[in-house]
Amino acid sequence: MTLPNEILPLQNISIVVAVSDNWVIGKNGDMPWGRGLKDDLKNFRITTSGAGKIVVMGRKTYDVVGRLKDRENIILTNQKGFKAPQCRVAHHKNYVLALSEAYDVYIIGGSEIYNLFLPHTDRIIVTHVHTEVTDGDAFFPEIPPEEWHATPLFSFEQSERNIFSFDIIQYRRKPELRT
Ligand SMILES: NC(=O)c1ccc[n+]([C@@H]2O[C@H](COP(=O)([O-])OP(=O)(O)OC[C@H]3O[C@@H](n4cnc5c(N)ncnc54)[C@H](OP(=O)(O)O)[C@@H]3O)[C@@H](O)[C@H]2O)c1
Repeated sequence: MTLPNEILPLQNISIVVAVSDNWVIGKNGDMPWGRGLKDDLKNFRITTSGAGKIVVMGRKTYDVVGRLKDRENIILTNQKGFKAPQCRVAHHKNYVLALSEAYDVYIIGGSEIYNLFLPHTDRIIVTHVHTEVTDGDAFFPEIPPEEWHATPLFSFEQSERNIFSFDIIQYRRKPELRT
């Protein structure tokens, strides 16, 4: 039996990303705003932590952020002998896709890994950081509004906790475009 697209179960894969107004996500291996958005980090932790949740990151992001506590961590690398203490090391996206049948999977970067999983997700949680970054070297692809439905979740003003204002928006792929 074939179900109409609107009621097909989604794979439990979400992308979580913070982007500047010009779609920059990284600079010199780190995020352009460093750890300067405390409320975004808090929201990220709440969204991705807990039992049954898995975060997936590329080896270059892992080199900078390390293992995240209170959730399962998967590191993607092509290096067969790569060691990441208390993490799972994977060499193919299919391992992650299989796990998403049973667990909530959060793709947390960087650029290569976002591009790898974008075709496999219908949900992107984006922190739009209100700054233009001129010298970024890692990017997220623009999200075409005709393909994704946007739901604003939270807004934060610039403050002593946050060096820039930002909005957190959930995007769902429009049902007729889901694979
Ligand atoms: N703003 C945000 O929300 C955010 C979040 C995360 C990261 N970032 C930024 O993104 C930048 C890093 O992104 P990046 O694209 O350079 O690196 P990345 O995506 O973190 O990692 C790339 C690495 O992942 C591995 N990999 C890629 N495709 C693979 C595949 N198909 N199978 C197995 N392994 C695979 C390779 O590791 P090996 O080389 O070991 O084989 C590759 O070098 C940094 O600036 C970081 O700060 C931003």
